[in-house]
Amino acid sequence: MSLKEAINLEKLPKHIAVIMDGNGRWAKEKGKNRIFGHKNGVGSVREVSEACAELGVKYLTLYAFSSENWNRPKLEVAALMELLVRTIGNETKTLMKNNIKLMTIGSIETLPSRAQEQLAKVKEATKNNTRLTLSLALSYGGRAELVDAFKKIASQVKKGEISEGDITESTINKHLYEPSIPDPELMIGTSGEYRLSNFLLWQAAYTELYFTDKFWPDFDKESLYEAILAFQSRERRFGKTSEQIKS
Ligand code: IPE
Ligand code: IPE
Ligand code: MG
Repeated sequence: MSLKEAINLEKLPKHIAVIMDGNGRWAKEKGKNRIFGHKNGVGSVREVSEACAELGVKYLTLYAFSSENWNRPKLEVAALMELLVRTIGNETKTLMKNNIKLMTIGSIETLPSRAQEQLAKVKEATKNNTRLTLSLALSYGGRAELVDAFKKIASQVKKGEISEGDITESTINKHLYEPSIPDPELMIGTSGEYRLSNFLLWQAAYTELYFTDKFWPDFDKESLYEAILAFQSRERRFGKTSEQIKS
């Protein structure tokens, strides 16, 4: 039986989030520059998006650029932005063909205007697509997202629109970048690192974490199937006992 066939389609994670790490080290191993690694990472984005759409995963969130990544060398940041603009332009047809809706989370207003325009265009073009929602985390930081949410809530309290006592977890949820996207059930991190790197801090409270040594450009459909199978072998207890879950 193939890995894909071993997946229980009844128990698919509805939302998978991925920390796409290791492009630079992948390139270095091959004696190439870091940008070469980023370019090759695009192929993995394609593979994983397609695999999710084929399986029936409804949401895929990809960590493409963190708020901390702005501190990288100027040349690398510029190359990443250029790659983003070019890739989005090239992939629109594929997104339409595969019925994929594009969304973004992050401080999008900090991206170069060309990137913002491209993103706005593709988001508009794909907004009615229904098979998979592909959300790109760009200039994204989990803490920044929470700070933004708290500011919005504080301003509502100040205006008297809500009172302090009305604030619940759902108030916070509603003020995240994309409240329509549910929490991820599975988060994948590549390149042998065991950290969240400031990704989806609030949303990952009960997310199953899966880490692999593979560098992102080597991550393919089979790698995704392995991650989903590992997810399906776990017991999610949400604070309860194993007996409670089984009854
Ligand atoms: C992930 O690969 C891509 C981004 C963070 C933009 P890296 O560029 O972090 O690659 P490593 O971790 O240096 O190998
Ligand atoms: C995490 O990768 C961010 C993205 C994948 C976009 P980094 O390479 O920036 O993470 P750290 O700094 O090693 O934690
Ligand atoms: Mg890295």
